[in-house]
Amino acid sequence: MDRQKYQKMMRGAGQLDYEIYLNTESLLSCQKEPEELCNPDELQFMIVHQVEELWMKLMATTLLDIDDEMQARNSFKALTLFRRVQLCQEMMTQQLVLLETMSPKDYQEIRLLLGNGSGQESPGFRVLLDMPTDLWQTFKAIYLEGGQRTLEQIYDSEYSHDDAYMIAEALAEFDEQFQKFRHSHMQLIYRSIGVAANSLKGRPVEILNTGLRQKFFPELWQVRADMTDRWGGTYGKVRTKLDPKAKP
Ligand code: HEM
Repeated sequence: MDRQKYQKMMRGAGQLDYEIYLNTESLLSCQKEPEELCNPDELQFMIVHQVEELWMKLMATTLLDIDDEMQARNSFKALTLFRRVQLCQEMMTQQLVLLETMSPKDYQEIRLLLGNGSGQESPGFRVLLDMPTDLWQTFKAIYLEGGQRTLEQIYDSEYSHDDAYMIAEALAEFDEQFQKFRHSHMQLIYRSIGVAANSLKGRPVEILNTGLRQKFFPELWQVRADMTDRWGGTYGKVRTKLDPKAKP
């Protein structure tokens, strides 16, 4: 195939309305030119990271809107927006696997170009780590203190699957999806640079395990643990085996 002809076509001329509106000229020049790539996999490496930054920008902007909707107790709208965030989170996790099509040898060449960069410097990731504290404050002010209810009532003694419960579960889902991203990212690291490797900052990659244990909304996980403990207190922590002859 005529590589140069097709590479020119990929850039486009930037003149059509689609190109002008979406600013494709700038967008498609955010990656290195073909002759600047250290190997063919470098283009994929850049694109996956750039796309992930864009999803994080969309998620963070949507979380700002979610906060506004929660403040106004527009729960249906907030839940639709939470669904958007969750879909972005799922895509982010799925897209990591693309990089598993890159050989460890090819990645070593790319790695030489990264200075001492780290995903912990990602602007999208940093803002997403900060936002949950504010989201929790809003949830508490509107759905707990505002409704004069506790999480125990919402989840257990006055459980009615209402909007407070649904919003709480959307927050729990955000937390869980974040963990899934971190878990898949860890697998990607193991696949690319190995289990006992060090990061470009000279830190063992194992320090990322601390993040794997982080919960943004510990109260939402505790409420179910408390329910299980109370249940255990009522029915006995260790139960007797079912009798196969007994009727259900
Ligand atoms: C071959 C692919 C990849 C490798 C080998 C890799 C490796 C690493 C390493 C070693 C760290 C720890 C850095 C430190 O000590 O500061 C890290 C952190 C991070 N990387 Fe990657 N990464 C890869 C792809 C990606 C992609 C595609 C993303 C997309 C956003 C990403 C996002 C992050 C984030 C957000 C962190 C911080 C994680 C946390 O604090 O829990 N990485 N990565």
